Amino acid sequence: MDRGAKEAPMEPKERAGRKAAEWIEDGMTVGLGTGSTVYFTLVALGERVAREGLSIRGVPTSVDTQRKARELGIPLVGLDEVEAIDVTVDGADEIDPAFDMIKGGGGALLREKVVASISRREVIVVGPGKQVERLGRSFALPVEVVPFARPVVERALRALGLDPRLRRDDAGAPRRTDNGNEVLDCASPDGIADAPALERALAAIPGVVESGLFIGLAHVCVACDADGSVAVSERPA
Ligand code: 5RP
Repeated sequence: MDRGAKEAPMEPKERAGRKAAEWIEDGMTVGLGTGSTVYFTLVALGERVAREGLSIRGVPTSVDTQRKARELGIPLVGLDEVEAIDVTVDGADEIDPAFDMIKGGGGALLREKVVASISRREVIVVGPGKQVERLGRSFALPVEVVPFARPVVERALRALGLDPRLRRDDAGAPRRTDNGNEVLDCASPDGIADAPALERALAAIPGVVESGLFIGLAHVCVACDADGSVAVSERPA
């Protein structure tokens, strides 16, 4: 029997991203994260706005997300109109068993952390390979710095045992964030032994704008394996 064209199977990132859209209800103010996984959350929300008349106000965490959300028909507001966010959906580069994370692979760490800081619930969407026992073993920690201060910050990072590399664009120039700053990707081959302590140490360096260590900010993790199975877990108490 001809059942017509089969739909293409969803990739893990799409499964995780679409699943997270289920946390969003009518009337909510929603933080819109950045990255290729949360993109599918944006797509699902755009569909619900168009089909169900879902009424939400989105707060984008990057210029890229702002553009995509607009194209998908999601109404947006700025932080001047928002005191608290009901739910934010965002991606992560690594998430550990305590739900501490490394973020900033896409360079949006500062705005992502500001939005997370006023979110009642932060839902993290990840594809395969992002759940790790210890942060930083395979993903270099992004640190956003003021360009003027970069040499000073680099020395301070080395004193903390990190190996900073300036993030560059395809032409070899320093890549700028949406805020006009630079990013140092900091390798730590043995991983980060005490992520909360390192976050505090980084915040104390003059010239550091923000680090990609997100401590205690995630509440829910939606993870999709390579085999397509989605696991939803709450941050351990
Ligand atoms: C951007 C981020 C992203 O959320 C993170 O890099 C994950 O992105 P992706 O879902 O594309 O792997 O922190 O600054």
